[in-house]
Amino acid sequence: MKNQYDTPEFFAEYAQMSRSLFGLEGAGEWSQLEPMFPELVGKTVLDLGCGYGWHCAYAARKGAAFVLGIDQSELMIREAQRRNAASGVTYHICALEDYAYPSEHYDLVISNLVLHYIADLDWVYRKVFITLKPDGVFLFNIEHPTFTAGVRQEFSPDGTWPVTDYYYPGERKTNFLGHTVSKQHHTLTQIIMGLIHAGFQIEALEEAMPPVKWREQMPEEMKRPMMLLIRAKK
Ligand SMILES: C[S@@+](CC[C@H](N)C(=O)[O-])C[C@H]1O[C@@H](n2cnc3c(N)ncnc32)[C@H](O)[C@@H]1O
Repeated sequence: MKNQYDTPEFFAEYAQMSRSLFGLEGAGEWSQLEPMFPELVGKTVLDLGCGYGWHCAYAARKGAAFVLGIDQSELMIREAQRRNAASGVTYHICALEDYAYPSEHYDLVISNLVLHYIADLDWVYRKVFITLKPDGVFLFNIEHPTFTAGVRQEFSPDGTWPVTDYYYPGERKTNFLGHTVSKQHHTLTQIIMGLIHAGFQIEALEEAMPPVKWREQMPEEMKRPMMLLIRAKK
């Protein structure tokens, strides 16, 4: 199936988001995600669903020796090459389901806001576990189950956030950037216990809150968590 990000209208809408205009500093989760990164000097890094490549360029700036960013979307990879080319960083058009995951190759696997597009989270966990070196880190940000559970990912007319059908994981046709986008709801148990069953140790967990300086402009973002940030070690 075609990746939504390769639809020109959707791609154009995504380009207007704060995270697209201003990079990591424009991303609401960055102030919580950045401190979760491990030491990067000399490290090998894989970014699953790298998008514009902000995290790849960040890893290179912090001294990573080799960084590979893969993304299923040709338009996103083109944008990564245009905006975030850096020494030691390579970008490939590749679905994360199609990547070869070389055994014990990476010190860090990162994936920011991608895994809620993937139905079989356990499969990804197994692949990431294989491709990490011993003590390697898996750092990811997935849409929070409270956010993904409901019907169209929209507030109700009375201003509340509907959490419903929570115990029915699977596809949700959501409204994202004015388009119907297919995402996958995973329960908190699936997200956390899946990691533990795959062999990971969970080292840190954060629920993204808007930074203090943004809260007045974004009161709705204080009503429910939108993202779940997890750092797990092999
Ligand atoms: C919200 S964007 C996040 C991009 C980037 N990680 C960031 O934080 O700036 C989601 C990305 O996931 C990619 N994506 C979705 N499904 C994918 C898959 N199965 N394999 C690889 N990339 C995928 C999309 O093409 C898109 O670039």
